[in-house]
Amino acid sequence: MKTRKLKYEVDESLYAEDVVPDPRDAKTPDAWVPRHPEMVRLTGIHPFNAEAPAQKLMEAGFITPTSIHYTRNHGPVPKLDWDSHKLEIVADEEDVARGFTNVSLSMDELIALPSVSVTATLTCAGNRRKEENLTDKTVGFSWNTGAVSTAQWRGVRMRDVLLKLCNLPWRSDEDEDEDDEYPLEERYLWMVGADDLPKGNYGTCIPLGLAMNLASDVILAFEVNGKPLPPDRGYPVRVVVPGWIGGRMVKWLKRLEVRKGESDSYYHYFDNRILPPGITKELADKEGWWMRKEYLFNELNINSAIVTPFHEDTMVLPKTQSENKPALTLKGYAYTGSGKRVTRVEVSFDYGHTWKLAELHVQERPSRYGMYWCWVHWSYEATAEELATPHRMMHCRAWDQSSNTQPNRLTWNVMGMGNNCIFGVRIDHRVRDDGSTELCFVHPTQEAGMSTVGWMTANHRPPAAVPPVRIPDAPGSDDTEGSSVSMGDDDEDPAQMDEEDLALLKSLPEFTLDEVARHDTEESAWIVVRDKVYDCTPFMEDHPGGPASILMAAGADATEDVEAIHSPKALGMLRDYLIGRLASAPLAKQLEQVSSEPAATPQQMQNQPWLQPKAWVDFEIVSKEDITSNTILLRFAPRHRDEKRERPLGLPVGMHVMIKSKMPDGSPVIRPYTPIVLAARSEERDEFTMLVKVYRANEHPKFPEGGKMSQVLDSLSEGSFVQVKGPCGHIQYPCAGQLRVGSKNIEIDNLGFMCGGTGITPAFRVIESGLANPDDKTVFWLIYANNSTADIALRAELDEMAAAHPDRLHVFYTVSNPPEDEVWKGGIGFINEDMVRANMPPAGARNFVGLCGPPPMIKFACIPSLEKIGYGTDRFDCF
Ligand SMILES: Cc1cc2nc3c(=O)[nH]c(=O)nc-3n(C[C@H](O)[C@H](O)[C@H](O)COP(=O)(O)OP(=O)(O)OC[C@H]3O[C@@H](n4cnc5c(N)ncnc54)[C@H](O)[C@@H]3O)c2cc1C
Ligand code: HEM
Repeated sequence: MKTRKLKYEVDESLYAEDVVPDPRDAKTPDAWVPRHPEMVRLTGIHPFNAEAPAQKLMEAGFITPTSIHYTRNHGPVPKLDWDSHKLEIVADEEDVARGFTNVSLSMDELIALPSVSVTATLTCAGNRRKEENLTDKTVGFSWNTGAVSTAQWRGVRMRDVLLKLCNLPWRSDEDEDEDDEYPLEERYLWMVGADDLPKGNYGTCIPLGLAMNLASDVILAFEVNGKPLPPDRGYPVRVVVPGWIGGRMVKWLKRLEVRKGESDSYYHYFDNRILPPGITKELADKEGWWMRKEYLFNELNINSAIVTPFHEDTMVLPKTQSENKPALTLKGYAYTGSGKRVTRVEVSFDYGHTWKLAELHVQERPSRYGMYWCWVHWSYEATAEELATPHRMMHCRAWDQSSNTQPNRLTWNVMGMGNNCIFGVRIDHRVRDDGSTELCFVHPTQEAGMSTVGWMTANHRPPAAVPPVRIPDAPGSDDTEGSSVSMGDDDEDPAQMDEEDLALLKSLPEFTLDEVARHDTEESAWIVVRDKVYDCTPFMEDHPGGPASILMAAGADATEDVEAIHSPKALGMLRDYLIGRLASAPLAKQLEQVSSEPAATPQQMQNQPWLQPKAWVDFEIVSKEDITSNTILLRFAPRHRDEKRERPLGLPVGMHVMIKSKMPDGSPVIRPYTPIVLAARSEERDEFTMLVKVYRANEHPKFPEGGKMSQVLDSLSEGSFVQVKGPCGHIQYPCAGQLRVGSKNIEIDNLGFMCGGTGITPAFRVIESGLANPDDKTVFWLIYANNSTADIALRAELDEMAAAHPDRLHVFYTVSNPPEDEVWKGGIGFINEDMVRANMPPAGARNFVGLCGPPPMIKFACIPSLEKIGYGTDRFDCF
């Protein structure tokens, strides 16, 4: 077959020489199919479903070299022969009676017909599905951003074949006698491929009117980029329907049928549909959602992505940010459906409050009917100032000539189709040794094979583009409907009273601060919060922060601490413990008298450990290090340390400290942390090191503001101060084989831990100190649960300790999202009974398990599993 002159340039030479059969396919029916080795395979080895990394696609230019065009195969590639292949074209008897001629067309007959060249972007309906799969698993596999490619297709117009060869009884003459009019709108063009699949051949349909519309450019393609179609592209003939999803462009075409009603192929119904978010596969099967034509996905929706910087790219942030000079050229692609033009692409560095115009690199000349079938590439010259955005995110979105744009939020659907929410890239900051800032770019999801995950991890919903706007209520109005009202406003009285409560308060006794001060024991623990007196005693044992944290505040005005620590829900719970109100002096005066305890001076604390249970002590950040994109290591030393450094820190193994700092608006924030390292050398024995996971703003739709304290700690630099109080906690590991839980000493042979995320820190310190002690014979067992392997903190250290002490430390990791690029020997999913049975010591009088992690993990996974394997409630406890 002759090759023809192309309208657009294609640099096939860049890639073509590599395209030979791939040894990975040797044992599959596709052993004979040439394939580019760098295509990222998304469904294992077979069938072949693959995309090129988006960066490679973009580098290749406007026309995608055929060898790196994305491929969607449902099964083995049919091995078809040009000379013997026949395309059958048939119609219902009714149409045959009207004059339709059924034909059987050879390839030579087909290419002898007048042909046209159509340049079109093909896109899999599941492009960007990986983001959906990380939101919640869909039934489809994880395309990243590379399921899109542009090529020059040559073929015969479908319309010409139907009209000229098959005599489709339709005339475009408008003067036609209406009685004689052919009911085009009732007809569909069914397309059937030669692939032999479990549910029959792949098949689907398009409205016949679309195929007959000259402007639609629907063709029977037999060439791509000037050469016969390669096997993965549909050799020897396929359908191309520009502007529609790839799923309607049947490859290895063997039959066309003109029929009333839609295709009867299984694949037409159970593929390429966007069902509503609440519909699961089970519900769709049970309630017949697959058959409802309203949910078909046909014409492409508008979409765009940032490709440069790519996932894991880094750059040093230029120091001079003021000059407004371009520091980095952002690049990406955008496309839309229905032949519409992409009119603009915009970039935002402030979560969609403002959008800047990108430059479009439009190479496509519209069709003679004014249609645009191709993607555009775009670029934006970002300044250092923009890249240094405090929001640490940048987004892009495209618009088309109908003013369609991309939604801010991802709309999850069970097939994971049509994801076109605005595309966000996270910008992480790392301070380098020379003091400069390195930016590291993190895409929402990674290309399969990348070493880190993207900023979306399993079951993380993507962020809203614009953080929820707080609409203040009109003065005097209590109608909050329609406004997004944040709970836990710092200015609010946390235990706000309604009228009934006020009446109750008035009926309650008054106490002086002196009286309150006498209730500072486990038997009677009172606190004052905003002029009201609470008796916390009944709640001590159930208190999620442990009894010790209440004791530390008991007998005093704890307004600042209580408000700095608790969630709005916890603050609401205070009401149940209200016993009275403060007598006499107005609150401000009383706060002055008591205040939150001032930072203790060195004189007050001579010969005592640095940590004080009831006094805040200033500690300086002496070093700060980024461990992963969201964990930092902070080392602290006392601010007023004495020259000899004789005073110990005073933190027993297993216990934690409270850290207090200030939010940017000046309000206090307090959180508990378990140091992982206490320096052993005497000159540093007053120092400690903490591993902190940073919860950033706008990473999680449920927490648009991110974590308070972790962000404060992330923003502090070396030389800054925080206040520290402690020790806190009721579990200690004072010496070999001895555990202290509350007031009880427990002798142990085996000590298990089940930890989630940064809950590893208390376990780590106990294990490390136990293994370092030559007299200690305790065997340690650890189940450590995380979202992904990238989230496993201290993994190298744990593996090293386990390797050095194989008889004394057993470590088992489980992750919700197993790695694609590593043979994963750990568990998958949440902690369960089998994992616990296999990786914890058996229940016994000298065995104990410590738990530390998110409350749902402890409540629904750890405790029920331990109970099932025979653990009594006195044999496990939470840190
Ligand atoms: C005994 C004990 C020891 C601890 N030790 C450590 C330790 O060594 N290291 C450590 O890092 N933490 C530790 N923690 C947890 C720590 O106390 C804080 O709860 C944590 O740092 C979050 O505080 P925050 O103020 O940043 O978040 P908050 O403002 O309190 O936010 C509350 C919660 O919202 C969720 N959240 C907020 N933003 C996001 C987001 N972007 N994505 C997902 N979820 C989000 C998180 O679940 C977060 O905990 C320990 C906790 C306890 C009880
Ligand atoms: C009756 C009074 C109290 C109630 C009802 C209460 C309730 C709670 C609740 C529900 C939590 C879980 C976390 C949250 O939802 O915020 C919690 C955690 C905590 N509370 Fe209290 N609490 C009380 C008193 C106190 C006091 C007086 C202190 C000390 C100032 C304190 C310190 C803590 C600490 C340190 C935590 C752990 C926070 C964390 O894990 O990040 N609580 N409390």
